[in-house]
Amino acid sequence: MTVVVTGVAGFIGSHLARRLLDQQVQDVVGIDCLTDYYEPSLKRSNLSGLLGDPRFRFEQLDLAQDGADFVADASCVYHLAGQPGVRMSWGDGFASYVRNNIVATHRLLEAMRESTGRLVFASSSSVYGDADRYPTTEDSLPQPSSPYGVTKLCSEQLVMAYARSAGLDARCVRYFTVYGPRQRPDMAFSRFIAAAQRGEPVEIYGDGQQTRDFTYVSDAVDATVRAGSVTDAGKRIFNVGGGSRATVLDVLRILGDILGKPLDVRRLPPQPGDVRDTGADLSRARDTLGWSPRVTLANGLRAQVKASA
Ligand code: UGA
Repeated sequence: MTVVVTGVAGFIGSHLARRLLDQQVQDVVGIDCLTDYYEPSLKRSNLSGLLGDPRFRFEQLDLAQDGADFVADASCVYHLAGQPGVRMSWGDGFASYVRNNIVATHRLLEAMRESTGRLVFASSSSVYGDADRYPTTEDSLPQPSSPYGVTKLCSEQLVMAYARSAGLDARCVRYFTVYGPRQRPDMAFSRFIAAAQRGEPVEIYGDGQQTRDFTYVSDAVDATVRAGSVTDAGKRIFNVGGGSRATVLDVLRILGDILGKPLDVRRLPPQPGDVRDTGADLSRARDTLGWSPRVTLANGLRAQVKASA
């Protein structure tokens, strides 16, 4: 049997595949179609730590149109492929969110109807929108604020429908703003670090008082592997957050300390679709997966800065 990681050339997918190869006896099949949402050369570079491993096989496939024969031998499919990013999902950009999140997930689910494998779906805190309570439990009413969040919620609901009605053994992890080495270049920490290294001002959206439950990538990977391993996942949906909320201004202060100089900040207007706050209630992940985040924001940021030097 093998395990499959879709979106293997992406930020979290590449870390997950490495962890699976390091920890488990199975072979890992990595799937990615190398979209150009950001520089495909960065994705190829994410793959470089995997391609030399004899237990790793890469297949360049587009889940929205190609066959998914790889599910036949898979004991578990970790489905991380998708169109990410909150702020690009307005206007004409929406079509690729529908295609790469909803259509691709639906095709994968159809392929999995004939298989006995388990599915772990990478969902997002963006399904909550401006939540009705903080910390937010998995049972809070989802009310996404962005088209991206709507497509993630729709994909998640598709997964749950196949679990309820087609017997699929599925689990969903709702990641909260994941960061660390190889973070996507469009995300806040990557942009802040790159700007500071070029000696340019960092751009913040709004007043910088918005909070996120920033999650270090090794913690996100750990929760994901556990979600794929537990025999009884109970209610199936798990928040995966960093364990403490911070404002964007807090992040800039910590980053300034790490870099040894205060950052030059330029304020831009708030961006449509960006929620004010996220904050995960982690009780279910703790009780069912035996998982809690371990990496503090300061240590995680230090690791990301070091990796981008
Ligand atoms: C991130 C990912 O991009 C989504 O794919 C993911 O699903 C989502 O987390 C999630 O957890 O649900 P976001 O929280 O917007 O979305 O992550 P960042 O791009 O790292 O932004 C964090 C905060 O920094 C936001 O408040 C954003 O407005 C702010 N920001 C971002 C800036 O102030 N300046 C920037 O240059 C970029």
